Amino acid sequence: MSQGEATGPLRSLNAAEWDHTYDSTTPGWDEEPPPLLGELLTEHAPPPTHVLDVGCGLGTTARWLADRSYTVTACDFSPRAIAEARRRTPADAAVRYEVLDVTAHPPLDPFPVVLDRGVLHTCPTHRERRTFAAAMARMCRPGGLWIHVGAAALTEEDALHQSSGPSWTTEETFRTAVTTWFTVLDHRISDFGRQRGVTDWAARYVVLQRREN
Ligand SMILES: C[S@@+](CC[C@H](N)C(=O)[O-])C[C@H]1O[C@@H](n2cnc3c(N)ncnc32)[C@H](O)[C@@H]1O
Repeated sequence: MSQGEATGPLRSLNAAEWDHTYDSTTPGWDEEPPPLLGELLTEHAPPPTHVLDVGCGLGTTARWLADRSYTVTACDFSPRAIAEARRRTPADAAVRYEVLDVTAHPPLDPFPVVLDRGVLHTCPTHRERRTFAAAMARMCRPGGLWIHVGAAALTEEDALHQSSGPSWTTEETFRTAVTTWFTVLDHRISDFGRQRGVTDWAARYVVLQRREN
């Protein structure tokens, strides 16, 4: 699939639009992450590290983390998504859910690891990407990690030719958005998801460390 033909979520930046998305469509991106995410986590932050899953959607990644012995707090600004995530999660799972907009100065204590799978890439402009990166910095302890998984443009040409779905950014654009607060420790390109022709487009898997200042 070319990037301009993506069938992923439409770009949207507010909770009401995401509530509508969860109410009206079956999210095609909702699936367990590929093994690479597990490998990066095991290497850089083995369990039982406490992970904040930001923009957790229906909680699939949060439950996948809990199954791997992580302690998980999972948040999303869509109340519908959180209600459905709670419904799908066994009562004894080590996942706590919060309805929270992470860009709105959240009152949570900073975490050793924050994760976003497919959230930064819903930000269509540099300003919004920096707003989201600043929010991740507030949620992450100094010296802690941000694990990011999101759409990757492999060339400038790819970045120009996109019409809907996630915002594909080049590595340079990505680094420019995050560098005020984070150092890149690991950067890899692999498929976003496991579904052929649906989510197997190029994604960036990045381990970032929160600067101490
Ligand atoms: C493409 S979905 C990805 C969901 C999930 N991470 C996954 O991999 O299936 C993006 C999610 O981010 C949430 N989101 C976007 N901006 C947010 C914000 N500022 N605070 C909290 N959640 C946000 C949306 O409601 C949506 O559930």
